[in-house]
Amino acid sequence: MSSVPALAEAARRRTFAIISHPDAGKTTLTEKLLLYAGAVAEAGAVKARAGRRRATSDWMELEQQRGISITSTVLQFGYRGHVVNLLDTPGHRDFSEDTYRVLAAADAAVMVLDAAKGIETQTRKLFEVCRARRLPTLTFLNKCDRPGREPLELVDELQDQIDLRATPLTWPVGIPGDLRGVIDRRHGAFVRYTRTARGAVAAPEELVEAARAEAEEGDAWRRATEECNLLDAVGANLDVKSFLAGETSPLFVGSALTNFGVRHLLDAIVDLAPPPAPRNDADGIARGLDEPFSGFVFKVQANMDPAHRDRVAFVRICSGHFERGMTVTHEPSGRPFATKYATSVFGAERDTIDEAWPGDVVGLVNAADLGVGDTLFAEAPVTYPPIPRFAPELFAVARARDSSRSKQFRRGVEQLEQEGVVQVLRDEEVGDPAPILAGVGQMQFEVFVHRLEHEFGAGVELTSTPYRVARRTDSQTAARLRSTSGVRVLTRTDGVLLALFESPNWLARVEADHPEWTLDRLVGD
Ligand code: G4P
Repeated sequence: MSSVPALAEAARRRTFAIISHPDAGKTTLTEKLLLYAGAVAEAGAVKARAGRRRATSDWMELEQQRGISITSTVLQFGYRGHVVNLLDTPGHRDFSEDTYRVLAAADAAVMVLDAAKGIETQTRKLFEVCRARRLPTLTFLNKCDRPGREPLELVDELQDQIDLRATPLTWPVGIPGDLRGVIDRRHGAFVRYTRTARGAVAAPEELVEAARAEAEEGDAWRRATEECNLLDAVGANLDVKSFLAGETSPLFVGSALTNFGVRHLLDAIVDLAPPPAPRNDADGIARGLDEPFSGFVFKVQANMDPAHRDRVAFVRICSGHFERGMTVTHEPSGRPFATKYATSVFGAERDTIDEAWPGDVVGLVNAADLGVGDTLFAEAPVTYPPIPRFAPELFAVARARDSSRSKQFRRGVEQLEQEGVVQVLRDEEVGDPAPILAGVGQMQFEVFVHRLEHEFGAGVELTSTPYRVARRTDSQTAARLRSTSGVRVLTRTDGVLLALFESPNWLARVEADHPEWTLDRLVGD
């Protein structure tokens, strides 16, 4: 079922994720993108939905206890004849591997920085994943409405700290605390904004030509144009080729709170971010967008509805036309999978989805056998490469509290591992029944313990370990590492050997003493 519409539909799609450190303004910006796209009439709707969701208590108890959102949501909206898919990376302070995996399903990223803070830890970690995938990244310098750091200084910081050359497309006009508008550098125009109450509706824009801008904005205007001249002089101008290669980042300034600069960003998502491209399979061969349906699971969300204990697998479509009800093949098992229960998810709300195209995400309900990274296809078989596992930083030993429940414990560990809740490591030398769980955030462990108790009826005792950093190794080096103190070698379920070290300093010492050993960095490290 080859289809020309698949090419046209794919060309209309933009699928991206927002990466940021908590509090940089991701939620606010998401709302404002929806506002400018006309998907919500007034900003505030997304937060209101979140509130209602907690009130109707159809999410995990844990989520309610912590008052945070564990799940990533997928928002789809139309803008200027395009279909935009916004994959939301979980916004809580304590993120998990899911946050990283979302980036495997995105074609571009928007990095939101708080102009007063610049690059923060989580932004850096997430950006490293974008870099590893050569994901084109747009940058939004947020909170320019209030006193912050000099934008030029932040441009330098991007270069110095993450080796990313920013090419500002807009530049702020106004003194700190009084942002008047932005210069659109491509057109040399000054766009002056008027604030609206709480930024609930779009900020009126006025195009002001240079002479009037100088007369009316005085020093603020002169300063902004001088800075733009400086940017011209160093050649910090849009370069689409290097942007698409993930080497430069078009930068936008603004304020998600007051809506300043949001429209420019949204236009750039449509104009600059790439549409879905043919994906390479595990052998490096691209599957054309117009070939029959294929996609891969990038996230499994269990237990969205405790009454039914169902499981939703989020599938990023890579090729072809998806029609609800079609039967596809689950590549790892070779079994058919019926897609009768396909949903789109807007925030926490599910709607049945009838069709979808490359770049879109569908949620498959009752996906008991689908695991993270699994390929689904129709007709011609394909296997997409596995989603990289990320460098764990936390390690804890898990034991069944009650040995009579060890069968349930084992089953639960296996299932949660498959869903990608935690990484499971074992010491093959010792054959200990207690696995070591590895993750990037404490939340992963909390979810693991909670679900093992509530879904599998197996209480868990977690004991922390002194290990802090992991490297990928091979069997030769592993043999040597096993007799090195402060190091432990474990095997992950996918067969990869991981060497755990008690501290980065200790790792550095071992690396310095034995430069010939295999100790490879993992993604996100
Ligand atoms: P996050 O999802 O990245 O964690 O950030 P979120 O949007 O929740 O924003 C964090 C805080 O920063 C919020 O304030 C929000 O209002 C504020 N904020 C976001 N964008 C801007 C901006 O452009 N300018 C200014 N000045 N503030 C911004 P809060 O007090 O924590 O919450 P709220 O009571 O305002 O909702």
